[in-house]
Amino acid sequence: MDLGLKGKTAFVAAASKGMGRACALGLAAEGARVALCARSEGPLREAAEDVRKRSGAEVLAVPADLSRAEDVARVMARTAEAFGGVDVLVANVGGPPPGGFDQMTDEQWKQAFEQVHLSTVRLIRAVLPHMRQRKWGRILAIQSSSVKQPVDGLVLSNGIRPGVAGLFKTLATEVAKDNITVNLVLPGRIMTDRFIHHQTERAQTAGRSLEAQIALSGADIPVGRVGTPEEFASMVVFLASERASYVTGAAIQVDGGLIKSVV
Ligand SMILES: NC(=O)c1ccc[n+]([C@@H]2O[C@H](COP(=O)([O-])OP(=O)(O)OC[C@H]3O[C@@H](n4cnc5c(N)ncnc54)[C@H](OP(=O)(O)O)[C@@H]3O)[C@@H](O)[C@H]2O)c1
Repeated sequence: MDLGLKGKTAFVAAASKGMGRACALGLAAEGARVALCARSEGPLREAAEDVRKRSGAEVLAVPADLSRAEDVARVMARTAEAFGGVDVLVANVGGPPPGGFDQMTDEQWKQAFEQVHLSTVRLIRAVLPHMRQRKWGRILAIQSSSVKQPVDGLVLSNGIRPGVAGLFKTLATEVAKDNITVNLVLPGRIMTDRFIHHQTERAQTAGRSLEAQIALSGADIPVGRVGTPEEFASMVVFLASERASYVTGAAIQVDGGLIKSVV
């Protein structure tokens, strides 16, 4: 199936590792030019080189901290200069720190909002003029299953991510006339560095091995295991494609059946 991504430009945020990196590779493998960012320059350059080698695509890497407005502006200007505007945006950023309600200060709430919500708003603002002018665009964000079902012990994620869902639903209606689709993709439990880091902490607290902890994490997922970044990226690549032209305003989980709600 031709996904119609050849010659498109994709910007994948927070893509030196994990799901962002898998999305960058998936889009590049379908013929898109890809720009990616992350804070640490070394791992970012290594990821860009890997994507370039494995796909043969043009790849641009720009170090940036997405929780800073000036970095978002700089990375988007650099991308426009190199590739002439973004057709596919995959908004993504590191998750806010774990913890319960009593632990969180106003400062931590503000920082989490800036990182998760405002970074997404700023990325969208930067790509919309080009998409409107071209009458074609795909806006996607990697959020979390917490949008549909709160995750115990992640109050910042549970409190802030559903606001991004409200933003996306509103935007989907506003830009539909410009042939721009707007969708959220919600990971359940996906085997990335972040996931392994959290599981290592839990394993230590519980006094069990990391392998036993990861097996336990998969046990209450209907498919019986944690997902891979590539399985997650397949959904993002499809939603970014020409083939997904009638899917907008959706929040689609990639979670092996973890979320228990009906919709
Ligand atoms: N994995 C899961 O099971 C899971 C489940 C639900 C939700 N999520 C969410 O999905 C998102 C991606 O998670 P992941 O598991 O793929 O993470 P990951 O493997 O830890 O990768 C995170 C990527 O984001 C970059 N990054 C982090 N903060 C950044 C910032 N402020 N500015 C620019 N880049 C930044 C990191 O590079 P630098 O550190 O160099 O910046 C890295 O490239 C996160 O928001 C996470 O909370 C993950």
